Amino acid sequence: MWRYEEQKVWSKNEVKWIKHYNSKNKILLAGDGDFSFGLSLAYAFGSATNIVATSLDSYDVLIKKYNGAATNLLILHNYGAQLLHRVDATKMQHHPDLQNRKFDRIIYNFPHAGFIGLEGDPQVIE
Ligand SMILES: C[S@@+](CC[C@H](N)C(=O)[O-])C[C@H]1O[C@@H](n2cnc3c(N)ncnc32)[C@H](O)[C@@H]1O
Repeated sequence: MWRYEEQKVWSKNEVKWIKHYNSKNKILLAGDGDFSFGLSLAYAFGSATNIVATSLDSYDVLIKKYNGAATNLLILHNYGAQLLHRVDATKMQHHPDLQNRKFDRIIYNFPHAGFIGLEGDPQVIE
């Protein structure tokens, strides 16, 4: 779960930098799981109009899978993010909402290199 705790007061046109990312970058998040990483950036920037956040799972699946996902998505939507589901990062260049678009940063937050089986399977999680 990502959280950006630091509270700052920013002027409206100031470019806000968070590590490698800034509030003027067009940012694509691939496989954001519970959308907590996107929300963390939104909090840090004070806006998410520069963010397209995606999940591999459908909306229905991910709100069952992740406790905070519904709330994270609602807040991200209110911050102006574009939210897309069922986006496979290995094929996203063909996605109708992504093809022909350019981004300054594409962020993959997959914490595992890969596995055989289903992600929700307890044996796979172990
Ligand atoms: C643990 S979550 C990421 C968590 C969250 N973004 C964070 O960093 O706080 C890893 C996600 O990668 C997604 N994933 C795995 N393979 C993927 C693929 N080919 N395309 C898109 N997402 C994928 C999984 O669905 C899972 O939700």
